[in-house]
Amino acid sequence: MAFAQPMPMPMPMHPGSMRADSPATASAARDGRVPVAFPPALKREVLATMRMHLQGLAQIQQAMAQGRYDEAARFASMTLGMSSMHGDQAQREARYMPPGMRALGQRLHMQAGRFALAAQDATATGDTRKPQQLFGQMMQTCVACHASYRLK
Ligand code: HEC
Repeated sequence: MAFAQPMPMPMPMHPGSMRADSPATASAARDGRVPVAFPPALKREVLATMRMHLQGLAQIQQAMAQGRYDEAARFASMTLGMSSMHGDQAQREARYMPPGMRALGQRLHMQAGRFALAAQDATATGDTRKPQQLFGQMMQTCVACHASYRLK
């Protein structure tokens, strides 16, 4: 049974409450991600690109499951590669990103390029292990960036 306290009582510290000393640090401490500020229009653009990335992964996964590696390659280039972004979007985004985030973004696009080549090769060689491995690595890059950064 808990009784309401009229005044906040000094509580013993427990893990997770250590850095909760202001609203800003409290929310940062909650998940530890670095907040990144984009101008509102660019933020909308970035999030739309993110949703396209996720859709791309789903399309690639389905194409691979059906043995259509040429299609998987095409989806990777269209939704995750360098040319998946419009005009100078990559440069405009990069300007606001901390270096670590920028590196993860570049890694994703590089991996997408390598995946597309490996998937294309698989149509000739039948070696489907390499594109599958690269697909997993690509997803790890999504996970790594999401674990470290959030948008303000
Ligand atoms: C360079 C960093 C980075 C990479 C790489 C990255 N993301 Fe994101 N993504 C973010 C950030 C930052 C957010 C915003 C999260 C927040 O503010 O809570 C986000 C948000 C999203 C969202 C939510 C979109 C919305 O409308 O709210 C989806 C879906 C998503 N990402 C998918 C992916 C997928 C799939 C990949 C990999 C193919 C990926 N992202 C790779 C940084 C990244």
